[in-house]
Amino acid sequence: MDLKKFNLMFSKIELPRLELPKFKLPKIKMPELKIGDIKARIPIIQGGMGVGISLSKLSSAVAREGGIGVIAANAIGMIEPDYFKNGVEANMRALRNEIRKARSLSDGIIGVNIMIALNDFQNMLQVAIEEKVDIVFLGAGLPLRGIPIKEIKRANVKVVPIVSSARAVRLIFKYWQKNFATIPDGVVVEGPKAGGHLGFKEEDIENPDFRLENLIPEVVKEVKEFEKQFAREIPVIAAGGIFDGKDIYEFLKLGASGVQPGSRFVATEECDADINFKMSFVDAKKEDIVIIHSPVGMPGRAIFNSFLKGVNSGEKKEFKCPWRCLESCKADKVNYCISIALNNARKGILKQGFAFAGTNVYRIDKIVPVKELINEITEDYLAVVENGISRIKHEYEKVKKKLMGLKEEYEKTIERGSNLFKEEYNKAFTKGSAKLKGELEKSFNMLAANSPAFPDKDIRTGKAGMKRDSNNDFLQLISNSPLFRAGKLNKINWLKSEYIENFKLIDKIKAQFMAKTFGLI
Ligand SMILES: Cc1cc2nc3c(=O)[nH]c(=O)nc-3n(C[C@H](O)[C@H](O)[C@H](O)COP(=O)(O)O)c2cc1C
Repeated sequence: MDLKKFNLMFSKIELPRLELPKFKLPKIKMPELKIGDIKARIPIIQGGMGVGISLSKLSSAVAREGGIGVIAANAIGMIEPDYFKNGVEANMRALRNEIRKARSLSDGIIGVNIMIALNDFQNMLQVAIEEKVDIVFLGAGLPLRGIPIKEIKRANVKVVPIVSSARAVRLIFKYWQKNFATIPDGVVVEGPKAGGHLGFKEEDIENPDFRLENLIPEVVKEVKEFEKQFAREIPVIAAGGIFDGKDIYEFLKLGASGVQPGSRFVATEECDADINFKMSFVDAKKEDIVIIHSPVGMPGRAIFNSFLKGVNSGEKKEFKCPWRCLESCKADKVNYCISIALNNARKGILKQGFAFAGTNVYRIDKIVPVKELINEITEDYLAVVENGISRIKHEYEKVKKKLMGLKEEYEKTIERGSNLFKEEYNKAFTKGSAKLKGELEKSFNMLAANSPAFPDKDIRTGKAGMKRDSNNDFLQLISNSPLFRAGKLNKINWLKSEYIENFKLIDKIKAQFMAKTFGLI
């Protein structure tokens, strides 16, 4: 055997290597909201706000920012000059116009909020279908009978009921399943902190059992069964008291796929109401927020003012019912027409009306553009998520550093071992110890033929393969060397197992990270 040739071959042998895991912490962003085949860039639906508060201007601004903008159909005809003469017609005309205007102002997602209890509910739904809005949000009642499901499907309009309990969800979904062989596309769960009419008995509003934080998991659980049966995802949207990014984070953690704030969107430049209406939101104090008995027959949350004070003291606000817009209306008992009162407020005449608002309205301190509001909420959200995972990030960096140290030491030890082996071989060669030389040559040839490499995959999976065997041969070979027996092999094995353990830790951290951000990336 020619020593030179042998040395050459020796240099060809690759030393076992460890590679550092490739795992970069992903960039965090707000999750998208999917409702059927519709995808909103951010999980925010602007709550529909009736009697002219959310029309084309507000809804299109929200849609432009990647959220879902909603036009409220309720008494929308009050923005038309002939509402008191042709209420039904004015409503239809105004809704059609506002949808078209919103479409012309944005390519984003536009929905329409319709109260089921309205006497012209069918007309409003028809206009929404004809105009092919993206989604209809159906509240103040259960969408059961009279839903033109075929037309809705044909126009590819998504249907999202607004509910206040898991029981209502079950009722609606079971009914749809039985009668329409389908289910709604999502659910908005409106809790007791919301502004506007509330789907709770007055005595339940403060009951902790009915907190939105309790309702969301209940509804998520309820829809799960239907999701399985229909092999579709049914997003659950949280509404009522949502104020900032922290709230969004909390409700997404509870299983919601999105949120529907209302009040916050009133204090925006684009909100369709008069500046006086918006300013009443900015000026409201905590003690101004009250529960009223609405003529509609439901409790409602509003900002207390002189109008409501008068109502409470039994003052009768003279009015002529424009048309019987609501079957359940008890305007005579409560002495005023709610549509007229809300319309006055919308126009800024708050002395002759009042504003609905959610519990958190007192925290609003300025009017901002929708873009700014959404940016603020998004940044808020990201800060909360970042904060939650910063500990994990820190842990990750620590383990990564340790892995790097282990890798370095491992490679050095292997290098030293192989040098020792080479030295021993050369000594045996010069000494002419035929037996040792022969044995080493045999092993070495086998080793060179297999050209061992030590890919990290093998370490991670632990799968034995050709290369892994070669590597083990290599370790075996050098470990057979008497000089090497001085403990190097043990060290290599220890380093290897340490490395594997730390590698596993990285996977664990990764899983923790994913769990912490609940798959939002
Ligand atoms: C001024 C105002 C008017 C509203 N009008 C309606 C409406 O017509 N139909 C409806 O389903 N919800 C209505 N809501 C409820 C909102 O769509 C939304 O669910 C609610 O405001 C969420 O609570 P938040 O205000 O605490 O964010 C209204 C809310 C406000 C503040």
